[in-house]
Amino acid sequence: MALREIRIMGDKVLRERARPVETVTEETRRLVRDMFDTMYDAGGIGLAAPQVGVSERVLVVDVAEEDGARHRHALVNPVVAERGGTIEKAVEGCLSIPGIEELVARPARVVVEGSDTEGAPVQMEAEGLLARALQHEIDHLDGVLFIDRLSPLKRGMLLRKWRKLRTGAG
Ligand code: NI
Repeated sequence: MALREIRIMGDKVLRERARPVETVTEETRRLVRDMFDTMYDAGGIGLAAPQVGVSERVLVVDVAEEDGARHRHALVNPVVAERGGTIEKAVEGCLSIPGIEELVARPARVVVEGSDTEGAPVQMEAEGLLARALQHEIDHLDGVLFIDRLSPLKRGMLLRKWRKLRTGAG
């Protein structure tokens, strides 16, 4: 098991547009394994490669639905091909912004396309928590954090709380 350091808001890599993976290699698969290890160790349900300092379009998710169905996926070069359903609000947090949580509005259903860790094409239709986690992680690949999806007022409040938490932590 190999843990990588989780980058915290303020780190430039979180604001970069990650580059596409041209060829899926053993290095990509090692990155994915480390990302799963790091995500589980931190108690998260999703992680994007920039969050461990790698500016490449790779994400992992492991989401349990209320009915017990489990969705564990690693995706390379994922894109949201379709958005649908109603706009739903649910609480989100982020391993790169510890201590901050807020309601975020997102489409309830998405179709995501990309490839798996063997380089084979994948198309995934997702709803509920999985749809939310995939959108959150794909945002990371574009340098977008969930607080960017909030109103300026709400974002300002959370940033003040964040600064207080960080300075308090010394
Ligand atoms: Ni996040």
